[in-house]
Amino acid sequence: MPFAEQTHVMKFSVTEQNIKGFLYALKGMGINSYVFERESGLTLPFLQKTVKGCRKCPLAETRNNVVFGEGNNNAKLMFIGEAPGEEEDVQGRPFVGKAGKLLDQLIERIGLRRENVYICNVLKCRPPNNRDPEEKEIASCKDYLLSQLELIKPKIICTLGRHAYNTLFDVNERITKVRGSLKDYKGTMLLPTYHPSFLLRNQDKIKEAWEDMERLKQLLKG
Ligand code: URA
Repeated sequence: MPFAEQTHVMKFSVTEQNIKGFLYALKGMGINSYVFERESGLTLPFLQKTVKGCRKCPLAETRNNVVFGEGNNNAKLMFIGEAPGEEEDVQGRPFVGKAGKLLDQLIERIGLRRENVYICNVLKCRPPNNRDPEEKEIASCKDYLLSQLELIKPKIICTLGRHAYNTLFDVNERITKVRGSLKDYKGTMLLPTYHPSFLLRNQDKIKEAWEDMERLKQLLKG
């Protein structure tokens, strides 16, 4: 079997001396090329550290703090909002302003507290004046969100508002069209609901949001 088709699992710590020694040994065996594969080994704290130093988009210039996300790292339920607002940018924590207070109440309707779930946003930095996230910003940040999902592996995702939903499914739907309809996101249940800021402006919709929380409660039991 040609060497290129063989699978070798070799583990050693990456020091210059180790690598040089290894390559020297390969050369002695007449092997001129070798593919190194990095072990994934990604952890949430490491990802958080990486995101804190992110300068991939211009929001890094205007932010006060990166808002990575917080809660139970093994949460069964993960809420995904849009982007940090003013208060979140100051505190470096998601949903701590007015909309956050309402989110806390919605979570209580499920019989949970915010420390039982995981809460994060599509964007980790505040867009100036709370404008909508731009496509380029979402593209820069999306991998961070996908990694958070992979690491936390929630049983259910609840997207808050259209941006989180549209980012995950790569679509451009109106929230009023998809809200409350259970979806499958890569094998994980996903329930889209209204964004708490929208609910603050449209109090007649709160009943539907409560229904969604009741649905989440039942799904979490199942
Ligand atoms: N709105 C969001 O989408 N996220 C927050 O963290 C706060 C307000």
